[in-house]
Amino acid sequence: MKKQFFIANWKSHKTLREADEFVRSFAPLIHEDAEKEIIICPPFPLMEICKTYIDQHHLSIKLGAQDVSSFGEGSYTGEIAARSLLGLAEYVIIGHSERREYFHETDQVLVQKTHLALANNLTPIFCVSSDTQKIPDNVRIVAFEPLDAIGTGKPKDPDIVENIARSLHEKNDVSYILYGGSVTSLDVSHYTRLPSINGVLVGGASLDPESFANLIQHA
Ligand code: PGA
Repeated sequence: MKKQFFIANWKSHKTLREADEFVRSFAPLIHEDAEKEIIICPPFPLMEICKTYIDQHHLSIKLGAQDVSSFGEGSYTGEIAARSLLGLAEYVIIGHSERREYFHETDQVLVQKTHLALANNLTPIFCVSSDTQKIPDNVRIVAFEPLDAIGTGKPKDPDIVENIARSLHEKNDVSYILYGGSVTSLDVSHYTRLPSINGVLVGGASLDPESFANLIQHA
C-alpha cells in the first residue's frame, strides 16, 4: 500500500479541555498502520496537551502547527518562531489559502517561513490552490486545496484533482501531493485511491474524533 497522510486542520477551534477530550476519544479508535501517517494540527495553545497524551500513551500520532512565523527568534511580539516548536511539532502547514487571503501572506513570506521551518527540523505541508502557484525549494509535501472546495461541502471532482496533482508532480520536485477541501468519510477513498494523491488535509471532518477516525478507516 502507498503512503497516505491524514492531516487534521483544526483551524481556530477548541479549548484546552476539548483538545484533551479529542485525543482521549480518538486514540482507541485508530489502528497502527505504518503506511498511514496521522497528523493533528491544533491551535498553538492546545498543542502541548495533545503532545503530552500522545507521548504518555506511545501513540503513533504526529503533531503539526498550522502556521509559523516568517521571522526567527527575536523581538516579534505575538509571533511563534519555528524554534519554539522544537520538540512539540514535526510538521507545519504553510501557505493555507486562509493565511494568504486574511493575513496577506505573499510568495516571499511563504519562502521565508518554509526556510525557517526546514532549518528547525519541521516538515512543511505547503498548500496551493492551483498548479501554477510557487512552491519553495525543498518542500516535499504539497496539499492541493481548490478555493471553491474548502469549507463548502463541495469537494472537487476527483478527475480534476488527479490532473492537477499530476501537473504539480511534473512541474515540481516534490514527494507527495495531498488533496484538501470538504473531504469526509463518504468520499475520502475517491481521493486516496488516485494514483497521484497520497492523502488528505481535512478541516471540518477532523474536529470530531469519531468522524476523523471513520474517515481514516474509509480511506
Ligand atoms: P475543509 O477544510 O475540510 O473544512 O473543507 C480543509 C482545509 O481548509 O484545510
